Formats: sequence, C-alpha cells, structure tokens
Amino acid sequence: MSLNRRNFIQQSGKMTASWLTIPLLNTPALANKPWQLTDYQGLDVTQNEDFWHLIRQAYTVSPNVINLNNGGVSPQPLVVQDALDRYNRYANEAPTYYMWQVMDQNREPLREKLADLAGCSPEELAINRNATEALDTVIFGLSLQKGDEVVLTKQDYPNMINAWKQRETRDGIRLKWINLELPLENDDLIVRQFTEQFTPRTKVVHITHIINWTGQILPVRKIADEARRRGIEVLVDAAHTFAHLDYKIYDLGADYWGTSLHKWLSAPFGTGLLWVKKEKIKALYPLIPHHEPQSDNIRKFEALGTRSFPTEMATGQALDFHNMIGTKRKQDRLHYLKNYWVEKCLQFPNFKINTSLKPEYACAIAHFSIQGMKSEDISARLFNQFKIHTVAINWENISGVRVTPHVYTSLKDLDKLVKAIQSLCNETIKAK
Ligand SMILES: Cc1ncc(COP(=O)(O)O)c(C=O)c1O
Repeated sequence: MSLNRRNFIQQSGKMTASWLTIPLLNTPALANKPWQLTDYQGLDVTQNEDFWHLIRQAYTVSPNVINLNNGGVSPQPLVVQDALDRYNRYANEAPTYYMWQVMDQNREPLREKLADLAGCSPEELAINRNATEALDTVIFGLSLQKGDEVVLTKQDYPNMINAWKQRETRDGIRLKWINLELPLENDDLIVRQFTEQFTPRTKVVHITHIINWTGQILPVRKIADEARRRGIEVLVDAAHTFAHLDYKIYDLGADYWGTSLHKWLSAPFGTGLLWVKKEKIKALYPLIPHHEPQSDNIRKFEALGTRSFPTEMATGQALDFHNMIGTKRKQDRLHYLKNYWVEKCLQFPNFKINTSLKPEYACAIAHFSIQGMKSEDISARLFNQFKIHTVAINWENISGVRVTPHVYTSLKDLDKLVKAIQSLCNETIKAK
C-alpha cells in the first residue's frame, strides 16, 4: 500500500461503501471488493497503477490485442454493457409499454445528470445519437442567407465539412477556410488565424475543440471571445472533449455545442448530445421537424421517432462510471499515458511527434510519423507483427499514425508500443 493511500485511510477512519463504488458492483472482478475504489477517493491517482488496474477490470477489452484506437470510439465498461442488455430484454417483453411508458420516465433524470456533468441547464440539452446529428442540427438549423460567411478549418471533421459544403451548394453561403499547421502551442497565433478570416459578413465560426486527427486542443474561449465581439455565433465540435477534458460548457463562451457520448464517456454506441444556449433555441430549426419548430423547448430537437431507448438509458450507467473516476482524474491520467509513451519514443532519431506534450494543447490523443515509412505501413506492421491496433491518418497536411490510450490502458501495453515503434524505427534506419 502506498504511503499516500495509507495516510488517507488513517485520516478518513473507517470507510464505508459509498456511491463511489456502486457502478462497479456488477463487475465480477470487483463484486466482493467494494472497498477498493473508496480507498482512492480524493487522491491524486495519476500514477497509481493499482487504481487503474481496478478500472481496467471493469472493462472487457481484449487481453491479447492492444487497442490504441480509442480516439475512434470507446469500449463500454461491463456495467454499461449489462445495463444495455437488460434494458433491451425488458423492451422486448412489450416494446411500446417498456420503451414509451417505463423507460421514457428515465429521460428527464438522464438529461439532468448529463447537465450536471456538462455544467449547464438541462433545458439546454437534447439527447441524440451522435456528434454528427448534434452538429448537423445546428449547421442545417441556422437561418443563413446567400453570401453569409462561415469560418472553419480544413482540419475539422469530414462530416461537418460536408454539412457546411452542402449548405454552400444549396444556399450560397461562403466558406472561409483556415489551414492549420499542427501542432500549435501559441494561442495568439491560433486565434489570429481565425480572426484574420472574420469579415462583416461572417455569421458563424465552427471550432473543433480537439482536432481528431492529431489531438490538438484549440483555445475555444479565446476564439469565441473574438467572435462574440463581432456578433459572430460560435459552434463548437466537442466530439472529443466531453468526459475527456475537465471543463464546463459555459467556460467556452459558445452558442452551440455537440458531442458524442460513445467516445470518452464510454456510453453505448450511437449516443450523443446537443447543447444550445437557452436564448438561441427558439431561432434554431430542428433537423427532424417538430410540430412547433420555433419553440424554445430543447425537446423539439428530439423528434426522432422510434429510437433505441435501451441505448439511451444505459448512458446513465456510463455517467455513474465516469463520475466514479472524475473528469479531472481521467484527464490527468490520459495526459500522463500519452506523454509516457511519446517521451520514450522521442529518443528514436527518426520518430516525429505531431502533437504537443503540453496539457493545454493535447491530452490522450497523439499522432506520430517515422521518417522513411508510410503511415499505412506503420499501422499495418503494428497490428500484423505486434497486435497493436492504431489508425493511419492522412488528411490535408497531416500524415502519420494516431495512438489513443484510454483509462483501461496499462503501462505495460504502452511499453509494448514503444518497443514496437523502436523496432520499426531501427529497421527504417538500417534500410537507408
Ligand atoms: C472531431 C469530430 N467531430 C465529429 C465526429 C463525429 O462523431 P460521431 O461519430 O459521434 O457522429 C468525430 C468522430 O470521430 C470527431 O472526431
């Protein structure tokens, strides 16, 4: 037992099982050990491998293949998978009764719980299926006229770029592009690239909070402040930041915000969230029409028709699980894991990191390249030879491989990654 942990237990006296343990009680490995996680309550656990080992036990990830593409989508802890199965079985006893009369009762408490974590009013949150749906609701719901300008970057997510391009084609809006050279570690430089594109015709700025390709964090608040000063509305693509970075929506100074819940919250696949500032709800048209499209009730964005209630409801278990860890502790750990493997690889002469190591500019996600080796080949070799799953990323001015650990990733996994990268680096140098 570490000194910290012992001190903490002595100070706090006899610990009782609390809310902190509840989400893990269904997990076989932890079923009889509810005291274990309470031991860590309030402690800095960034480098406490015992704590993260317990978290790993709550997942059902492969012990053999190392999944380092958590930037795509997260696996769910067993409590979430179990809840999803359970709700699905209930629903199948009598779908309209269980889904519309029983499970639907969970929707408002779920909204409140999500609002609690997001740090906003539940009256500003619509539950939907993914970040694409959330952000498309805004992109297509805004009343823009021919000639109105939207500022965005070439490094934004393709679905969002396509949505804006569709509006450009249909409605004659103008897209003003920024081409970011990543990584960036200078807020003024980043903000200036946005403000240089602002004109009196600019109506919206689209900001990707974490750029999925390389993990770059953008200083949303600073860009949003400049936009607001000019009367420009701010849309934030937060697909990668909810339950990853420790912030509240209001901190960003945005008007609209959308995220996935199946990424860092580890909620069931096909879950997302839209936030619209209260006073902006009325003027934003829903993507799927509602009988009162100009209502100021956020629920007008949930007129989807039949959907998977089990999927939505099991999001509650994902929230409990996330809150048990806490966003700050998760962010600190993820940043530690990213820097852990990157710092070791920096000693290889032909290894190049395309992501910042500073906590303000990146967290879990990192992108690297090896001089003399194609990104697809690196990623294929990592899998075929070492059974490490990553993803090759070639997009605009970015070329390399993205590596994304998660809370269940062990240092041993990352040591294997470092060894594998070392072997590819050495091989490339020898082949020269
Ligand atoms: C930055 C960014 N925005 C939007 C999306 C779309 O998310 P979803 O698949 O939840 O629609 C992604 C998905 O990876 C993303 O990385």
